[in-house]
Amino acid sequence: MVSRRSKGDLISKRKTYNRIARLYDVFDLPFEHGRYKPLRRVLFEGMSGTLLDAGVGTGRNFPFYPDGAKVTGIDLSPAMLDRARRRKDKLGTAVDLREMNVMEMDFPDDSFDGIVSTFLFCVLDAEHQRPALEELRRVCRPGGTIRILEYAISQNPLQRFVMKLWTPWVRFAYGAEFDRHTEQYLKAAGLDLVEKKFLHKDIIKLLTMRPKAS
Ligand SMILES: C[S@@+](CC[C@H](N)C(=O)[O-])C[C@H]1O[C@@H](n2cnc3c(N)ncnc32)[C@H](O)[C@@H]1O
Repeated sequence: MVSRRSKGDLISKRKTYNRIARLYDVFDLPFEHGRYKPLRRVLFEGMSGTLLDAGVGTGRNFPFYPDGAKVTGIDLSPAMLDRARRRKDKLGTAVDLREMNVMEMDFPDDSFDGIVSTFLFCVLDAEHQRPALEELRRVCRPGGTIRILEYAISQNPLQRFVMKLWTPWVRFAYGAEFDRHTEQYLKAAGLDLVEKKFLHKDIIKLLTMRPKAS
């Protein structure tokens, strides 16, 4: 059950992404090319079958979808999905794009063999982390793999200082934070952490998890 306050937060996140959608790829370009591209490749290693891309955004993961996979992408923002549709047409990506909230997905239990989510959990507020993880667990088949790529705040003083300088912009433009600590909600959401590793310095981490065996 989503509270009234949570509904307000969702509307505000949708507005944020509808506002930024036109410029999202432009603003992200230096990071996409300098940082994210090789990480997206790693994200899909060993993934196959029916896959969910949760918080698909403008479709930055499309070039890395495994051949033969049946991928569904969901996002809260219609404007981000419009961008994703354009990229889908341009690249000829086989992906089913749907407007949906990750906390209340319209899929039956155990629908997906694998789930990936890139930089969505940086955007989800603390109170939304657990419900979102519970939904991912629900729609992932037993034994399936869930991978989340997200930021962490650096322990290096200089890098940390630079990240703190960026924080107000990241909050305003993307509704995001660098330090969501998503792994602290996994156990309560019924997920086992298989691996946590940093893919870029100590600031971008990949969490790999599985639904707890019942
Ligand atoms: C930082 S962007 C990341 C987009 C893309 N995954 C990427 O790697 O570039 C976060 C995306 O999550 C979407 N989003 C935010 N809250 C959501 C929610 N509750 N359910 C589904 N998508 C959501 C936003 O609309 C946005 O497109």
